[in-house]
Amino acid sequence: MDLIFILPVLILILLALYLLFQGAIYVPSNEKAINAIIKMAKVKKGGKIADLGSGDGRIVIAFARSGIQAHGFEINPFLVLFSRWNIKKEKLTDRASIHWQDFWKINFNPYNAVVVFGIDYMMGRLEKKLRSEMRPGSKILLNIFPFPKWPYSQKKHGVYLYKT
Ligand SMILES: C[S@@+](CC[C@H](N)C(=O)[O-])C[C@H]1O[C@@H](n2cnc3c(N)ncnc32)[C@H](O)[C@@H]1O
Repeated sequence: MDLIFILPVLILILLALYLLFQGAIYVPSNEKAINAIIKMAKVKKGGKIADLGSGDGRIVIAFARSGIQAHGFEINPFLVLFSRWNIKKEKLTDRASIHWQDFWKINFNPYNAVVVFGIDYMMGRLEKKLRSEMRPGSKILLNIFPFPKWPYSQKKHGVYLYKT
């Protein structure tokens, strides 16, 4: 087969492997989980949240709709463009933004709550990172995959709540 056909496929495979090693692959949260996240987070208006691996922006959009400053951090450039387009469509650009960044390189201290739909093999490393960075009184909401050691405060529709 010609190199011109093999090369793009090889690049896509390498990109998929890179994304997999950085965190979870893209699987969107369902509506029940999103509603549970919003309710359990109890972030006041003017508060600030972050979605670590924000996918198509649905969690960022849901928080922004309720008057919260919402920031998504996403490594996949296609999802960054798509979620920014979704935010524009919803006219939420004053409250919602997506950063094309690796969340492992960000300090989440300034946030009142963070949301993560990760995968089991990354949760131990994430537990250490968020425990050391987040302020007392802030919240962490995990969809499907809990932290391995930290006992959660509440669980609803597959969402685990942690209070710092
Ligand atoms: C399971 S999806 C969750 C998407 C969205 N938060 C939701 O709940 O619908 C995980 C997302 O994290 C992104 N991701 C994985 N590793 C990342 C990293 N190190 N930095 C930023 N985004 C990452 C993936 O590209 C994917 O979009």
